[in-house]
Amino acid sequence: VRIVILSDAVSVAEFAAEEMAAAISSKATSVLGLATGGTPVGAYRQLIELYKNRRLSFSEVTTFNLDEYIGLSPDHPASYRYFMNENLFRHIDVQIKSTHIPLGDVSDLIAECCNYEARIERAGGLDLQLLGIGTDGHIGFNEPGSSLAGRTRVKTLTEQTRRDNARYFSSLDEVPTSAITMGIGTILEAKRILLLATGSNKADAIRAAVEGPLTTSVPASALQLHSATVVVVDEAAAAKLDRHDYYRRSELEGRRLGLIR
Ligand code: F6R
Repeated sequence: VRIVILSDAVSVAEFAAEEMAAAISSKATSVLGLATGGTPVGAYRQLIELYKNRRLSFSEVTTFNLDEYIGLSPDHPASYRYFMNENLFRHIDVQIKSTHIPLGDVSDLIAECCNYEARIERAGGLDLQLLGIGTDGHIGFNEPGSSLAGRTRVKTLTEQTRRDNARYFSSLDEVPTSAITMGIGTILEAKRILLLATGSNKADAIRAAVEGPLTTSVPASALQLHSATVVVVDEAAAAKLDRHDYYRRSELEGRRLGLIR
């Protein structure tokens, strides 16, 4: 796992947007896995700027989001469909029919999950998956205890996750208790993975994910099994890493040898 430590959240957003833009530039029909939450918003803003400056087109891109709350309709302001439309899709030239987010308000949730997997497969799999990380170490809504081989399915949210996400709702009671999420098995099949984390509240989760043992108790630790994962963190989220200096040196060394930009 490559660990990139940058000074602040703005640099993390720039790095992520550049990686995503490079992926689209080298393959216009890229299939991108996207995340919601506070962390990727800065990167989405940068991508919107690149599109507005005519340096990037999303017209042939296909997207699959990680997750959606159960019980919220796509037009609910706290739904992830609404979030993606507002924070990215309506500002760029992606075709809305090429953007996929699980439907959380359908009667047959199991069919929706199977369908979602089938759509990812039909699209040829994910070229690049963007991830945030929960304070409990989740990726997508794969909460602690999730199978490291899981596929898209329904997961119950932990109380910690519900509290963390209550800021998007008018009260904690309104936060849904479950979600549809891509599984860790689904995520690990992405060709490349970019996990972003900013802020000191993510420092424990990042340390456990990157330097702790591979365990279902820290779902993000499964990324240690993926051969093309880049973890991009700001100094605050990197603060508890034991090998902090080594990661810094590895980046310098990689650049010196011309292996990374
Ligand atoms: C969002 C998602 C979650 C978030 C995580 C961090 O689609 O799948 O795993 O990435 O909860 O959220 P923020 O970025 O709000 O701290």
